[in-house]
Amino acid sequence: MTAKPLLVLGLMSGTSADGIDIALAHISGAPPHLNAKLLAHTSTKFPIAVRKEILRVAEQHPISAGELSQLHFRLGEIYADAALAACKRFRVSPRRIAIIGNHGQTIFHQGKPTNYLGSLTASTLQIGEPSVIAAKTGITTVADFRPADIALGGQGAPLVPYADYLLYRDAKLGRVSLNLGGIANITVLPAGCKPSQVFAFDTGPANILIDALVAHFTHGRQRFDKNAHLATQGRTIPALIDELMRDPYLKQLPPKSTGREYYGHAYIQKLLALAKKHRAQPNDLIRAATIFTALSVVDALHRFVLPKHKIHQLIVSGGGAQNPLIQAQLSAALAPIQLLPSKEFNVPTDAKESFAFALLAYETFHHRPSNIPSATGAHSPAILGKISYALPR
Ligand SMILES: Nc1ncnc2c1ncn2[C@@H]1O[C@H](COP(=O)(O)OP(=O)(O)O)[C@@H](O)[C@H]1O
Ligand SMILES: [Mg+2]
Repeated sequence: MTAKPLLVLGLMSGTSADGIDIALAHISGAPPHLNAKLLAHTSTKFPIAVRKEILRVAEQHPISAGELSQLHFRLGEIYADAALAACKRFRVSPRRIAIIGNHGQTIFHQGKPTNYLGSLTASTLQIGEPSVIAAKTGITTVADFRPADIALGGQGAPLVPYADYLLYRDAKLGRVSLNLGGIANITVLPAGCKPSQVFAFDTGPANILIDALVAHFTHGRQRFDKNAHLATQGRTIPALIDELMRDPYLKQLPPKSTGREYYGHAYIQKLLALAKKHRAQPNDLIRAATIFTALSVVDALHRFVLPKHKIHQLIVSGGGAQNPLIQAQLSAALAPIQLLPSKEFNVPTDAKESFAFALLAYETFHHRPSNIPSATGAHSPAILGKISYALPR
């Protein structure tokens, strides 16, 4: 076991493609005595043209191999700049940072094997070339975490449960960690659980539908529904929400993961058609999508978690933790389960996932596995990611 404490930067840019969240963590020890402390966090935005291209590609619009290669390296530069800007902001010399853990930008995720050229294939692609990050920052970079899990028959997602287990498990309290990014995912931590008793899955959409509807109705002038301002002005149309709740994804058994491939453009077209059928105005539909987000999480808990485990607390993180309508719906539907923002555990809601990738990078750097097979469905533990080394200092 290496006891030497290290400073680690975690970088996360999720399906929302709103930008890069960066966490600075101080990590020491090894599980079960791993100590991780979040020291600081910040975020940067993607350049507008780059964001547009990420969304276009993630929606599976055609891209040539050459353009994909260029985007991959350009993102490497952007992540490196984000890491260096964060160091400046945190007043920490990059020379003091031992490792960067970068999730990368997902442009495709097919966790369940599907027929491809005559045989079953699962795959995932996170881009942002780590060699560029290591070269530009001088910091050894761990990236590309998901493929090792898929190679062992897992879905390559979710990976944050490892961090949830380290940060939130409790001997007496049953807890669920909920992250509301583009997609919503939960990690179930039964009271006194061992890693093999942890399970986790994507429950469905979080902000992805709300963001897309807001961008659609405002012709791109607004990117998201700040503080549920628009949804609050809409009416509740119960029949519309009921219809949304018939989404077959909700019934699918875990382990399961989803993304923009499913909750993308075609899904939004379906929502717009449903709105017409139910005579919903734009804000009514934004409200319905917001309530659907909350109720799909509630549905997953009732269907797959609460019948088996006593849960006392729901710990919420991600951008959706700042949406008051989602929070109100969750609180009302789940009482007496206590809703707590992750900041109550010293993890600011917008730093949770970047902090998690700092932890995962630290584990990989020390040759330790960090997938949770009961969460991803993998046959066995895997050391996640690939390492691009910087020259020794
Ligand atoms: N104040 C807020 N009110 C409502 N929604 C918010 C607010 N702040 C952030 N969000 C939502 O959170 C999303 C970003 O969440 P994030 O956790 O970064 O997701 P991802 O991991 O997919 O990038 C934004 O696109 C937006 O929809
Ligand atoms: Mg984000």
